[in-house]
Amino acid sequence: MRGAALSGGANRGSSVGTALMGGPNCPTVPLSFARIMNTSSERNPQAAQMADESMLRTLRFQIEAIWPQESRLFARYALPVDAHILDIGCGNGYHCWRMLGAGAERVIGIDPSVKFVFQFYAIKQFAGHDLPIDVLPLGIEHMPQKMAAFDTVFSMGILYHRRSPMDHLRELRELLKPGGQLVLETLVIEGGANQVLVPDDRYAKMPNVWFLPSPDTLIGWMKKNGLKNPRMVDISTTTIEEQRSTDWMTFESLKDFLDPNDPSKTVEGHPAPVRAVFIAEAPY
Ligand SMILES: C[S@@+](CC[C@H](N)C(=O)[O-])C[C@H]1O[C@@H](n2cnc3c(N)ncnc32)[C@H](O)[C@@H]1O
Repeated sequence: MRGAALSGGANRGSSVGTALMGGPNCPTVPLSFARIMNTSSERNPQAAQMADESMLRTLRFQIEAIWPQESRLFARYALPVDAHILDIGCGNGYHCWRMLGAGAERVIGIDPSVKFVFQFYAIKQFAGHDLPIDVLPLGIEHMPQKMAAFDTVFSMGILYHRRSPMDHLRELRELLKPGGQLVLETLVIEGGANQVLVPDDRYAKMPNVWFLPSPDTLIGWMKKNGLKNPRMVDISTTTIEEQRSTDWMTFESLKDFLDPNDPSKTVEGHPAPVRAVFIAEAPY
């Protein structure tokens, strides 16, 4: 499940999908882009692997496989009126379009992988180049410090890839306006406060997984980093019906990452993937 606290407001989803007006503008790559990409691998050594994982999510795959699961969450929570949204590690911007469709006033996605940025602008070219939605070729570490600019910040599928989850949580809080809402989706393990899995090597064949906390552990980390009222709003075991190979994505998928004799375990013997969604607010 990829979750999100959205809905309410005018549903612009259909107009996004059908307003194929086209437009003359191609994406403008910022002048500093080459410098950012050159320093990115040094400052963000897991970027290539994270991008590969996200490439599995073509738009069609995302719509077919992800939306049926997460639409429940989008229906349950309302976006603030006139919300300005930031989606960290947005890939090709799939969820950014969903947020615009749910009524956001402005949506910014950031992702250091240039192929996603170009995928996004190829779609935006057809959806409407003047729509208030953009994807910038940036990692979270390139964002201005203490920006306090967004009503809602999403971090989905990112925390377990970060070497320092504490720094990630602090950065997320500092991107939010006072009282703004964080929506964080990540892999968790079963267990109580202060239990966390740090895989020795790979997790579900992924080489770049650092910390898988229990829900209570993550709630404790969120509090420690100044986030208010952290709570888990969804938890689900990822199924092989949801995360699977398709005609568009023919590589290995979840069933290849699980122990064939015991699907409650990964091939490495870790607990199989369980994903949870957490919400918290930035202090006033
Ligand atoms: C597992 S994917 C999650 C994609 C999307 N958020 C989703 O839930 O489907 C991780 C994404 O993080 C991006 N990424 C890698 N390093 C990053 C960084 N330093 N800051 C922000 N995003 C990063 C990758 O390019 C990739 O698109």
